[in-house]
Amino acid sequence: MTDLANRLDPDFEPENNESGNRHFADVVEARLSRRAILRGGLSVTVAGMFAGPLAACSGASEAEAAPAGPTLGFDPVPVDTTDRFIVPEGYEAKVIYRWGDAISGHMPAFAPDNTGEDQAHQAGMHHDGMHFFPIEGNDPWEGSSTDGLLVMNHEYIEPRFLHYGHARGSELHTWATPDHAGPRPSDHVLKELNAHGVSVVRMRDDGNGNWQIVPDPRNRRITGLTRMEIAGPARGHAKMATLYSPEGTHTRGTLSNCAHGVTPWNTYMAAEENWSGYFLNTDGELPREHARYGVRTDVGRHNWHLADGGEDGFVRFDASTKADAPSGDYRNEPNMFGWMTEIDPFDPDSVPVKRTTLGRFAHEGVVFAPAEAGRPVVCYSGDDARFEYIYKFVSEGLYEPGVTRGDILDTGTLYVARFNDDGTGEWLPLVYGQNGLDESNGFTDQGDVLINTRSAADIVGATPMDRPEWGTVDPQTRAVYFTLTNNTRRSEDQTDGVNPRGPNAFGQIVRWHEDGDQTATRFNWDLFVVAGPEDDSRDLHGNPLDDTNIFSSPDGLWMDADRRLWIQTDISEGVMYQGNHIPFGNNAMLAANPETGEIKRFLTGPVGQEITGVVTTPDQRTIFVNVQHPGATTSPEDYASGNFDSHWPDGGNSVPRSATVAIRRLDGGIIGA
Ligand code: FEO
Ligand code: CA
Ligand code: CA
Repeated sequence: MTDLANRLDPDFEPENNESGNRHFADVVEARLSRRAILRGGLSVTVAGMFAGPLAACSGASEAEAAPAGPTLGFDPVPVDTTDRFIVPEGYEAKVIYRWGDAISGHMPAFAPDNTGEDQAHQAGMHHDGMHFFPIEGNDPWEGSSTDGLLVMNHEYIEPRFLHYGHARGSELHTWATPDHAGPRPSDHVLKELNAHGVSVVRMRDDGNGNWQIVPDPRNRRITGLTRMEIAGPARGHAKMATLYSPEGTHTRGTLSNCAHGVTPWNTYMAAEENWSGYFLNTDGELPREHARYGVRTDVGRHNWHLADGGEDGFVRFDASTKADAPSGDYRNEPNMFGWMTEIDPFDPDSVPVKRTTLGRFAHEGVVFAPAEAGRPVVCYSGDDARFEYIYKFVSEGLYEPGVTRGDILDTGTLYVARFNDDGTGEWLPLVYGQNGLDESNGFTDQGDVLINTRSAADIVGATPMDRPEWGTVDPQTRAVYFTLTNNTRRSEDQTDGVNPRGPNAFGQIVRWHEDGDQTATRFNWDLFVVAGPEDDSRDLHGNPLDDTNIFSSPDGLWMDADRRLWIQTDISEGVMYQGNHIPFGNNAMLAANPETGEIKRFLTGPVGQEITGVVTTPDQRTIFVNVQHPGATTSPEDYASGNFDSHWPDGGNSVPRSATVAIRRLDGGIIGA
């Protein structure tokens, strides 16, 4: 693999957890589990791990209510390595929203030499988490299935494609290196910042599966430059003061928006995942709110601070100390990122809000449990980096349908998960003054605990996981599922029950049931599937996967209204088509039955991409998915000669473009059924 892709792929974010957290007394037990998993033996340990705790905690009435689970009534598609998007027989797929498609303002047509201002009115790059909001409903599961606001994240950029029309064969600024840290054309920097963020775009189906962009005052791009409000305990904190907002109440932009969440009050949450590398701090000694997150000390990911003209919105990415006080420079600018950002897609004038009570880390996304009137709001979020943690938030206020808004997220308790090897687990509160989160460990108040969420989680003894990605909550049983995508740096002596392989090249899906209602502080977990090739994988019953469903690196995850579990894969371009990943081909989406454990491959995408983002219309007759970074496997040599690995979706000699695909059944039936 080329160094090029390594520097662009979020999978290559640095590992920053040096806490050495390991709270499993019984390493031998974990090793036993691993051996049992690999040889397929159903030892007592493994039986407990795969089926015990969750099965045991399901009530008999629940089992009677859903013994079979949802149907998977399609023929699985085979592994594929061609530059095509393939769906099962009887289905059709149409590309509906590509990077560069115009949605607002002067509606600039896509062209390789679009300007930074053009990009502010076009789809961003690298589509990711996504939701369909029916146009006039305030319930995501009712309302129109042919007209709605499609809202999606644009996670990151690939400058060599973004600037293809400007810089072909010359300075590409593909990434910044210490040897290449010269001034950046300010319009390149503007285009890069505007290609990040979120799209809100009205889309309508003409009745034949042809979804079109509809002009609408609600269409807007939220970018790396959009004004944002800070809410929750970190608002106004001394560590949030900047030249832009000396009071620490506002900032600009959301970045690295990977997965998302949908609140019970029908707003959109954009997660800030791999933001830390965008910032540079040359002070030498870094505060832990920078160091524990991987803020760079040599060169910024895109060196936006070097934009010619020195605009304030660009120079802030240099977080080195320059003034006498924090209100005079941008030493605290990295502290503005790593949050969950709430966006009201129905109000184009609304200012997005960073909800700091949900913690600061590499948020993959957030998933809300179904809200119940008179009960707290509960949501879950993973920190996607090697050896990082899974979190849960329980609001202090009680949910009132039609009344509750986002400020309910500003007060409550953030917990972090400890997974015990015996299939139980605990939620450990991250509360100032408790469990060592006080002056003895350098914390001054709850805002400080949240700004330093990772350090707080280290101290209370959370379980370091194999890169927690998306989660979903079963609408019927309330079981919570999370993907753990992979962790090739886990060694065999670092394995444990929930992370049973070291190194872990292929990932697994964990699920748990709260021990009580959703606010409980204990839970019972099992592994739904251990991904991999036929000789290194186990399904719910301990059987190996086969050619209808082998997969690696589960990332996107979503359970539909019928409880079909959709699993999306993100084998990184650094290992795709190589070594032990050859059997998997292009990244794919599979569907699973949570009761029986059956899994079938539903689609495969083009070359070099990942499949991410998934939601259906309320009637389940259309499913939307995103194809992110097609052609990312293109080598520098092939790039120079124009032989990109992918020309999807436009074909010919075109530049590859991330895009949303709408899929429907030719007979008009429910997707996946
Ligand atoms: Fe952006 Fe963790 O995938
Ligand atoms: Ca992801
Ligand atoms: Ca990814």
